[in-house]
Amino acid sequence: MSSSRGRMVRHMLFWSLSHDLCLTGLTHLEPKEGSWNNQSLYSVPVDLDVRLRRLDLSNNFIRQLHTLALPYLEQLDLSSNQLDLISDGAFENLAQLEELNLSRNALNNNLGSNTKAFRSISRLRSLDISMNGLSDDAVELYLQNKPSLDQLKVTGNFLTRLSHNLFKESKGLRSITIDDNLISVIEKGTFEPLDHLEILNLAKNNLANICDFKLRQVKYLNLSKNSLEFFVTEQVNLLYRLEILDLSHNKLLYFPIVPKKNSLKYLYLQNNLVGALNSEAAMVSEANYLYSEIMRERIVKKNNLHSNWRLMPVTYIDLSYNHFTSFPTETLSLLSSLETLNFSYNCLQSIIWDVRNHPQSNYPRQLFFSALKHLDLQSNGVASISTIFLKALTGIQTLNLRYNSVQPCASMDDLESPRSAQQVNLNTSCVVFGLLKTLKHLSLQENNIKMLEPNSFQKTSLSSLNLAGNPHMTVQEGAFEGVQNTLESLTLSEINMTSSNLSLPCMPALTHLNISNNHLHLIPTSLSCSPLRDLDITNNHFKSLNHSLITALSVHLKQMYLSRNHFNCCESKWLTVLHDLKINLPDINNTLCFTSAGNMGMTDYLENPSVPCWLHTKAQELHFGQMIVIALFLTVLLTAMIMFIRKLCCTQGSFIV
Ligand SMILES: *[C@@H]1O[C@H](CO)[C@@H](O)[C@H](O)[C@H]1NC(C)=O
Ligand SMILES: *[C@@H]1O[C@H](CO)[C@@H](O)[C@H](O)[C@H]1NC(C)=O
Ligand SMILES: *[C@@H]1O[C@H](CO)[C@@H](O)[C@H](O)[C@H]1NC(C)=O
Ligand SMILES: *[C@@H]1O[C@H](CO)[C@@H](O)[C@H](O)[C@H]1NC(C)=O
Ligand SMILES: *[C@@H]1O[C@H](CO)[C@@H](O)[C@H](O)[C@H]1NC(C)=O
Ligand SMILES: *[C@@H]1O[C@H](CO)[C@@H](O)[C@H](O)[C@H]1NC(C)=O
Ligand SMILES: *[C@@H]1O[C@H](CO)[C@@H](O)[C@H](O)[C@H]1NC(C)=O
Ligand SMILES: *[C@@H]1O[C@H](CO)[C@@H](O)[C@H](O)[C@H]1NC(C)=O
Ligand SMILES: *[C@@H]1O[C@H](CO)[C@@H](O)[C@H](O)[C@H]1NC(C)=O
Ligand SMILES: *[C@@H]1O[C@H](CO)[C@@H](O)[C@H](O)[C@H]1NC(C)=O
Repeated sequence: MSSSRGRMVRHMLFWSLSHDLCLTGLTHLEPKEGSWNNQSLYSVPVDLDVRLRRLDLSNNFIRQLHTLALPYLEQLDLSSNQLDLISDGAFENLAQLEELNLSRNALNNNLGSNTKAFRSISRLRSLDISMNGLSDDAVELYLQNKPSLDQLKVTGNFLTRLSHNLFKESKGLRSITIDDNLISVIEKGTFEPLDHLEILNLAKNNLANICDFKLRQVKYLNLSKNSLEFFVTEQVNLLYRLEILDLSHNKLLYFPIVPKKNSLKYLYLQNNLVGALNSEAAMVSEANYLYSEIMRERIVKKNNLHSNWRLMPVTYIDLSYNHFTSFPTETLSLLSSLETLNFSYNCLQSIIWDVRNHPQSNYPRQLFFSALKHLDLQSNGVASISTIFLKALTGIQTLNLRYNSVQPCASMDDLESPRSAQQVNLNTSCVVFGLLKTLKHLSLQENNIKMLEPNSFQKTSLSSLNLAGNPHMTVQEGAFEGVQNTLESLTLSEINMTSSNLSLPCMPALTHLNISNNHLHLIPTSLSCSPLRDLDITNNHFKSLNHSLITALSVHLKQMYLSRNHFNCCESKWLTVLHDLKINLPDINNTLCFTSAGNMGMTDYLENPSVPCWLHTKAQELHFGQMIVIALFLTVLLTAMIMFIRKLCCTQGSFIV
């Protein structure tokens, strides 16, 4: 039954092929695409254009694939169907097929006929057989006779053990993605013979360790989400091409021992157990001990970890979510190209300078993180940072200290002398930001800061400063002294400030200001100095905004958030200014204002401004009338007085003359 239907389909296809060729001729061929994505198809349509180069049949209910006669077809997407039977000759007439996507089907069935069909597509360059319930043997069968295969995806199958037979007929592979399987064993010789292999993704498997990493050709290696306890490479003088190594979400206790000569740029170590051993020294010697165990060296000859980290050209390391209680200063200072270090979500409480002394002297050595630009220390509980550590950050631009317990020190003018600097070093109860001359971006959000003293950031180059969420903080006059000309972005949200607590200097570079979530009722008039583009005043006690100030600001203002205040509808001339200038007010639809008749939406008010304030304006007019009366009265009085004084003067004058 099914075979006779197959014959019929084939017959029709051949008919349409010859028909088409007669009509158009080969010379008029153009690249053609056919898309039947998500059309509830139960079989391949019979009237396909023979000239098709791309055919998308994904997201249907196709269960069987019989001979396709599409001699120009280059790409076929049958992903997300229910394909479990591919007849022997199904691909025989697809001479040009290069890309085949069969992910999310049921290719674990009918292996005999399916894999036989597969053997005929030897030109294939890209194959996706993810999510097909495939075992080790099945994948090996599907990969037979694939000398041109460049890219392979086998995500989400049931591979457990990779053997040296797996890729022996697909040696040209450049990219292999076998993530989300159950692999716990990789036999020697599985990947080594693949000379072109550059990208290898083995994430989400069950690998327990990498004892001797040998793949010198690989540039990208993803081993995230396995159960790795260590990663070790034998220290040989061969060049590895490795550039990106992802070892995140494993159980590493130590830093990896990477190839001696490598090209590593990005090293992902987040979500491991590194640092759980007490000190840096203990960790380093344990790692070296492990290395000599694995390499069966009798004695631990040298510090292999440090000697190979010293040569690593890495620019980015993610160490977030590890177990560090102390900062591994010596090890990380070896990385002379390191630009970005993510040390967030560890358990540092203080950053002390725990570095071995100079052999000759008793002074601690000053090491440097000379290339480091971005340091993320958020969520560590840091309360103190030694000055010698700060001095090591000679090129720092971004420092994220969000969710710590840092107290900024006052001006460091008197700290310049070595004696007092040493005192601060001994008792680091506050952090001397003034030592970070190159610092541009600082977040001190939620540090429970008590006092922001004058000149706290003097000598830095701060352009953005986040002080949000320090509800007990007193901002002293002069706190921003020294950075008022460089600050472009300032966040003072959730500080529990009233308008009498907030006095800002003239800040001629400030473009972003966030003073949301306070108790403010006045915008500081000093802001007329600033070319503000973004302003957030949500959740305060504003009743109205200074009309002339808003008019001045509106020259630069692009966006303003203003909901959750206590605006008086009838004193909203300022809003008309913003509205008329088409300044973006993203939360205007949630902004209420009150009238004597109750609350209403500000947009509703704007649509018809006069009505609800009729009474209010009447009252104002009345008020105005009274004022005129008073003014008239005063004028009369004044005139009378002047005349009286003149008279007096004249009398006196004549008296003198
Ligand atoms: C397929 O189409 C149906 C409606 O025809 C739609 O509800 C569904 O989201 C579509 N699925 C995909 C994967 O595009
Ligand atoms: C195959 O199709 C799926 C969607 O069904 C897509 O996510 C996947 O990236 C495709 N594979 C390749 C290699 O393009
Ligand atoms: C490695 O794979 C994991 C899991 O699929 C993914 O989240 C991560 O982004 C990959 N890492 C890199 C560096 O591409
Ligand atoms: C550091 O890692 C944390 C946690 O994953 C992330 O939120 C943060 O954006 C990262 N920081 C940098 C500078 O990449
Ligand atoms: C440093 O300050 C702490 C309180 O923050 C105090 O207990 C300690 O005695 C001080 N140490 C020195 C050496 O002054
Ligand atoms: C905010 O300040 C008020 C007094 O102005 C005080 O009663 C309140 O406890 C403060 N809130 C916090 C979270 O510090
Ligand atoms: C803030 O100002 C209020 C008066 O508006 C005052 O009671 C309070 O002590 C001030 N808080 C600080 C931290 O200066
Ligand atoms: C202002 O700061 C608060 C608290 O940090 C934040 O939630 C809000 O998104 C900020 N506003 C803007 C416009 O970024
Ligand atoms: C309104 O702002 C202007 C500066 O634009 C200032 O001179 C004036 O004093 C402010 N008025 C009030 C009531 O704050
Ligand atoms: C406010 O609501 C109006 C009408 O519902 C809508 O046209 C406008 O885009 C909304 N504005 C914003 C900023 O969401």
